[in-house]
Amino acid sequence: MNHETLNKEKTYLITGAAGFVGYYLANKLLNYGCHVIGIDNVNDYYDITLKHTRLELLEQYEKFTYIKGDISDKGVVTRIFKEEEPEIVINLAAQAGVRYSIENPDAYIQSNILGFYNILEACRHYPVDHLVYASSSSVYGENKKVPFEESDFVDHPVSLYASTKKSNELMAHAYSHLYDIPATGLRFFTVYGPMGRPDMAYFAFTDKYFAGDEIKIFNNGDFENDLYRDFTYIDDIVIGIERLLSNPPVTEGAPHKVFNIGNNSPEKLMTFIESLEIALSDALGREVEFNKKFEPIKPGDVPATYASTEQLQQAVGFKPETSIQEGLKNFADWYVKYYEKK
Ligand SMILES: NC(=O)c1ccc[n+]([C@@H]2O[C@H](COP(=O)([O-])OP(=O)(O)OC[C@H]3O[C@@H](n4cnc5c(N)ncnc54)[C@H](O)[C@@H]3O)[C@@H](O)[C@H]2O)c1
Repeated sequence: MNHETLNKEKTYLITGAAGFVGYYLANKLLNYGCHVIGIDNVNDYYDITLKHTRLELLEQYEKFTYIKGDISDKGVVTRIFKEEEPEIVINLAAQAGVRYSIENPDAYIQSNILGFYNILEACRHYPVDHLVYASSSSVYGENKKVPFEESDFVDHPVSLYASTKKSNELMAHAYSHLYDIPATGLRFFTVYGPMGRPDMAYFAFTDKYFAGDEIKIFNNGDFENDLYRDFTYIDDIVIGIERLLSNPPVTEGAPHKVFNIGNNSPEKLMTFIESLEIALSDALGREVEFNKKFEPIKPGDVPATYASTEQLQQAVGFKPETSIQEGLKNFADWYVKYYEKK
């Protein structure tokens, strides 16, 4: 399958278009010549300069329409569906982050629950060909069996963020069942890449290095029994979404499915960090070594998390496979150029 299966005549609505994943997806669809409507409230959860940079790049395309708005505002969402008549909707707008949900629980209910409900209601009243929405690997909570499979028990979330994402899957299933809305939920596993999210570890470590600060690594300093994590390069995520867009679920019951999108090849945390040091050294032309402080494993951190990608592969014949060396090189090259580091 290739992008020729993407219907260029359709109108695509991307919520969270100024965000990391939203920007890359919008950019790809626009490159194919699709009409893309992007909505984003450009909140200041992280540096809004990055969000503006992404929007400026998207606004260079004639077929891009940007609407500054909040998906928790039902009037705004309804108006977009009524006036623009999107046929494919990709809901990426959400309050992300696990730790932030301790201090700011309201933001999660507002965007992830109320906002998503508004999207579902709009899909009910203005039928769409396919609703694709972001869930998260965090729904697996403290599950120990790896790789994580879509059929695993996921009723024990350990953060409000995770519980809003699991709720999204339940809400989507109900709406899909009641109103025949073809819907696909995607459980992303740690997405990284150039122009990514500054709140994520690889980006924050890089910021700290240039600020001359130490980085904290929560693995006991035990490299033999290091934590294993699945890191998924942004381009792979976008290919996965793109292929699913034109493949709404065909099932006997509610037309709703959930897929993991991860790398299925967990890396030791230390390998990831060393690869980042190497990538930054290459980008700068001098040796980079982080000032590392090893801390105890945090309560609730599981030894390994990674995705089974069998279902994704069966559905669309694709599984992410960009190596962390390649992905981090692209990130480091971008970072050094964008922030003019020497
Ligand atoms: N990046 C990852 O590793 C990862 C992992 C698991 C799940 N996810 C999910 O994937 C989606 C995209 O993540 P991302 O990394 O691009 O995050 P991001 O924060 O970069 O993008 C989300 C965008 O949505 C916007 N937004 C938030 N609330 C909004 C609202 N109420 N109305 C309108 N816009 C709003 C934000 O301004 C932001 O630009 C999110 O749903 C996130 O929870 C991401």
